[in-house]
Amino acid sequence: MKFIIGLMMFMVLMLGYRVISAITVDEYNLYDKKISLVTEETPQEELEETGKSIYFVYCSSCHGMNGQGNNGKAQNHTKRIAKKSILDVIKHGSNNFKTLYPSGMPAGLLDEKEAEIVATYIAGGMKGEKPTSWEVCASCHDDSGKGISLVAPNLYEYSDEFVATVLTNGKKGVIGTMPNFSGRLNELQMKALATHIRGLKSENF
Ligand code: HEC
Ligand code: HEC
Repeated sequence: MKFIIGLMMFMVLMLGYRVISAITVDEYNLYDKKISLVTEETPQEELEETGKSIYFVYCSSCHGMNGQGNNGKAQNHTKRIAKKSILDVIKHGSNNFKTLYPSGMPAGLLDEKEAEIVATYIAGGMKGEKPTSWEVCASCHDDSGKGISLVAPNLYEYSDEFVATVLTNGKKGVIGTMPNFSGRLNELQMKALATHIRGLKSENF
């Protein structure tokens, strides 16, 4: 009797496993096929679709399918950057993206009070009046916050250049560690990902 129950449980498990693995393998192949199809000629809407597929395969395990970051485990992509990340970078500096900014960003440019005001401004999407201390940051990040190529990254939105830099170098920050995808994604696939991520932008931020 025990043997028969055991055998039945084994069969149920095997069946369940086959159903689950069949779906995942099929889905994976479907998405993987799309991923390999990106070319210079890919039109904008298709680029966005492809970005979504690549995101599903490579990014959603940490960032969530909706890009909201899996309850704080990874960056929430519906916003450019969280206030706690900005405060951390102002305090400690940052040197993650060595391929583009070899000398990184210096620590301690603002005192705690000024840092709080500037971080609120950036995390809120840079709307309304610019705080006076923003001038310190604008010298490298540009007055618009959109960054200066080879000087400092775009803090306003996920530009193609910034997303490619993150993917090439990976990132260690206050939220956690993101692996690099160097050699696993080509330039066009990175562009497709940036296009998809920009489309996740929250309206009410
Ligand atoms: C001397 C130029 C310079 C100045 C001034 C500067 N930054 Fe930066 N900033 C950089 C560079 C370069 C990076 C990229 C650092 C890296 O490689 O990790 C950076 C990165 C950042 C990041 C992290 C972006 C991300 O998504 O990882 C934030 C946030 C930031 N800066 C905010 C500020 C604020 C706020 C100020 C003003 C107090 C400021 N920066 C002033 C050069 C500068
Ligand atoms: C193993 C988990 C993991 C995977 C997989 C992953 N990420 Fe991340 N990602 C993170 C974490 C954690 C952060 C936050 C790092 C920090 O700032 O503390 C992050 C941050 C980011 C940022 C923001 C960086 C910044 O400075 O603002 C971008 C853009 C990003 N990821 C894109 C992607 C894309 C695109 C993929 C898929 C190709 C991906 N990530 C896959 C964990 C992951």
